[in-house]
Amino acid sequence: MEIEKQSKENILGYITHDVFDKFGRLLLAEGTPLTPNVVQKLEERKLGFRISAEPLGNSSAILKSASLKTGNSKQFKVPPKLDNKFVKINGESIGNAAKYMNWILRQVQEDIFLNNNLKILAQGHKANYSHSINVSLITVAIARKLKYDKPSLQEIALGSLYHDIGKILLPKSVLDDIAGVYNGQTLIYQQHTVLGSDLLAADKLPTGVYLIARQHHEKYSGNGYPSGLKGNDIHLNAAIVTVADVFDRLTSAVFKRNVLPPDEAINQILLAKGIDYHPQVVDMFVELFNRE
Ligand SMILES: [Fe+2]
Repeated sequence: MEIEKQSKENILGYITHDVFDKFGRLLLAEGTPLTPNVVQKLEERKLGFRISAEPLGNSSAILKSASLKTGNSKQFKVPPKLDNKFVKINGESIGNAAKYMNWILRQVQEDIFLNNNLKILAQGHKANYSHSINVSLITVAIARKLKYDKPSLQEIALGSLYHDIGKILLPKSVLDDIAGVYNGQTLIYQQHTVLGSDLLAADKLPTGVYLIARQHHEKYSGNGYPSGLKGNDIHLNAAIVTVADVFDRLTSAVFKRNVLPPDEAINQILLAKGIDYHPQVVDMFVELFNRE
């Protein structure tokens, strides 16, 4: 999968109004430069737009962009000092995953639509963005162990970063309900899988990306949601993200009242190997850690 880069040349003009998609997501803020690539994406979505030949100056457009925090000031990067939960992961595996995710984040920031998703994610519930980065690091490290090729690695990296993107459409109160959220008990909460998958599919991202959002709460035994898929009917990308996701949740205070130390979280995952989680994925996950 090639992430399309937004060319700094070839600016056709500037959009004169905010453009929202059918989900109510802000796709382009007023004043955004329009390149042929952006126009093509708007046309693919059958979204009408008006264009001005000149930048909109310091009119309300810039203020609006700033208030929507869609300006360019925030650079998304993997934090230089990783969370303690990663300490026991083989240094080379996690170091390479961090390097790779920084490369992915740079690509994402060159694509106006993918970057908007990231900004919306970062502006949403406080836990979402850091959780997404943590999950992507573990996911990439596992996928590397499973010898993913270059295009597949790019898809799983992007899909893991956006696995919870559907949460941007959920009410904050649902996300604040820690116990309900952790146990996946609320039907509204469960909708983030389908909503996220629909958002990413609308962005014309490949199956290997959007099925991660849809299937990362499915369980190997068939007891997950939203579809109760079983075993290998679950996309391998999603099966990997499931393990990375649960490890980060079990070890993060924002998701769980009784946070587990990493070793205990690993043991819990091992106990559910072949029941909740894909056995080969669990094996690769465990191999990441230098266990005594
Ligand atoms: Fe999720």
